[in-house]
Amino acid sequence: MDTLHSITQLRLALDPVRRSSQRIAVVPTMGNLHEGHLSLVEKALERAELVVATIFVNPMQFGANEDLDNYPRTLSEDQEKLQAAGCHLLFAPNTREIYPEGLDGHSVVHVPVISELHCGASRAGHFDGVTTVVCKLLNIVQPDIAVFGLKDYQQFQVVRKMIDDLCLAVELIGVETRRDSNGLALSSRNGYLDDIEKDRATRIYGILREIRSAIEAGHHDYRKLEADARTRLAESGLTPDYFAICNAQTLQPANRNDDELIILTAAWVKQTRLIDNIRVSLRGNQPTGDVHVHQ
Ligand code: PAF
Repeated sequence: MDTLHSITQLRLALDPVRRSSQRIAVVPTMGNLHEGHLSLVEKALERAELVVATIFVNPMQFGANEDLDNYPRTLSEDQEKLQAAGCHLLFAPNTREIYPEGLDGHSVVHVPVISELHCGASRAGHFDGVTTVVCKLLNIVQPDIAVFGLKDYQQFQVVRKMIDDLCLAVELIGVETRRDSNGLALSSRNGYLDDIEKDRATRIYGILREIRSAIEAGHHDYRKLEADARTRLAESGLTPDYFAICNAQTLQPANRNDDELIILTAAWVKQTRLIDNIRVSLRGNQPTGDVHVHQ
């Protein structure tokens, strides 16, 4: 597997692949890869002849007081993992390659409303950074398929709307969240947790499951369930940021008429902010598995 650092090199490498009509899939990441990322590569390999992973810790999506400087950068381990997973190319640009004139004055892709809720409300400008860099990566790689993890469910829906609104010719695939045996969603930020904190963090998924069971059992006072869940998080030693039962597409607060729901949460374990979610279908089927969005 080659690692390319410049846009020019990457375009040169991809041109013949595109001309030979082979499908290209991209897996955008910020590195520090775990099994969750590798499952995205695995999915991409099922759907395309050539898989490009990208590793770029995107400064535009971090707030001033967030963990940009401490975000784990583990390029050589990541290269080994990608190679073993069968990935064909790694694009690992530096900040100058992506933002040659810096961030100030750079064009920004803003997806209104959906990007301003939940994580967008707590992390002002976060999704503008995500959509701007994802739009750039899609324009650089020009893939047929883009694969994202559903742990970042709001990110997935924001990217989906950007792709729709801007008529980007790419198929989007969302891959089911990978979890530890105790239910904790795999995340690069789990590396910030000690054993006690990790143990506490497992309650996040536990509470999501409890609330899903309550909804499936017929409890429809969603605002009360959200308040209960926040209390349970706090009682478990976590600091809830938000806990929201939403329409699975719009991410607006769910009401009795919605039958496809997503429960989204973010909570702090000491200094570490973790997110997770669970899908609920009131149509009688259990909504698990990957999500495919065809353009
Ligand atoms: O999910 C991530 O790792 C990042 O938000 C992404 C999509 C690679 C954009 O920087």
